[in-house]
Amino acid sequence: MNAIRKSRSDLTKTSEVDQTVGSVTLVGAGPGAADLMTVRAVRALEGADAIYYDSLVDESVLSHVKPNARRVFVGKRKGFSAMPQQAIQDKMRDDARAGNQVVRLKGGDPFVFGRGGEELADLRADGIPVKVIPGITAAVAAAAEHGIPLTHRDVATSVTFVTGHTLDGSIPELDGLISSKRTLVIYMGVSNAGTIVDQLRGDGVPGSMPVAVIERATLPGQRFIETTLDALAADLISHDVVTPALLVIGNVAALGVPAVEPRPPVHSKPEPNEPFAWVHHPMG
Ligand SMILES: C[S@@+](CC[C@H](N)C(=O)[O-])C[C@H]1O[C@@H](n2cnc3c(N)ncnc32)[C@H](O)[C@@H]1O
Repeated sequence: MNAIRKSRSDLTKTSEVDQTVGSVTLVGAGPGAADLMTVRAVRALEGADAIYYDSLVDESVLSHVKPNARRVFVGKRKGFSAMPQQAIQDKMRDDARAGNQVVRLKGGDPFVFGRGGEELADLRADGIPVKVIPGITAAVAAAAEHGIPLTHRDVATSVTFVTGHTLDGSIPELDGLISSKRTLVIYMGVSNAGTIVDQLRGDGVPGSMPVAVIERATLPGQRFIETTLDALAADLISHDVVTPALLVIGNVAALGVPAVEPRPPVHSKPEPNEPFAWVHHPMG
């Protein structure tokens, strides 16, 4: 019993920002809607001296930061990045070494297609204390928003998250990942949808397999398109689907419905207060 109490209190401590030593906290901001951030994430923002944030983050979440905290935009837009990855890591390391509490705020969860693993390893190699605060990943939020149970005792016994866009631009091996009782969620899959469909069809997945496309989940203007594997590529074009969007493939996709709840209003958003210049960077 004592051991359980002790470990719980240790867990609580990791959510508080240590005021004596500089550190970096990788924080998941959730899928977009500001009220889908965890309480622990909000506390980290409130205690931060500097926040490095991505484009996927709804900037209204920055209303939680101290007025004198530095807000540094390091995201990517349309193939351009505000700062190369190595420069982000170097700057965060220098900030932490100067004694600052640094928050690296990322869309969704830092460890789900968020490069959090690379940043963690790099900062730790430099001797910087690093903590991680999880966030609601886009697949989980998008599915909840549209009533798609990613697993279901009668319909799907497993779910797999896959990137549709690897470092070299190819798509990963999908064979065996989808069947009548499996769910596949593809992140960053819109531009490679044709190849994804060809691969799955070649693996014997029927063209009638349900697919849900969810664009801008939990954000104003979110869209839900119900289609099938065979109709997917044409539907993405006819609906002009753009990033960020997810493909949910499997029989659970047929259970989804368009969201009816109005989205919460977007609050006024503080702008970055540290200047940056766009750097060309191929989308990864
Ligand atoms: C670089 S990944 C980051 C994923 C993030 N770390 C997470 O856990 O959700 C970016 C991709 O996540 C998906 N994504 C992120 N936010 C989304 C949203 N609000 N609606 C739909 N897809 C989203 C899209 O596939 C987008 O291209």
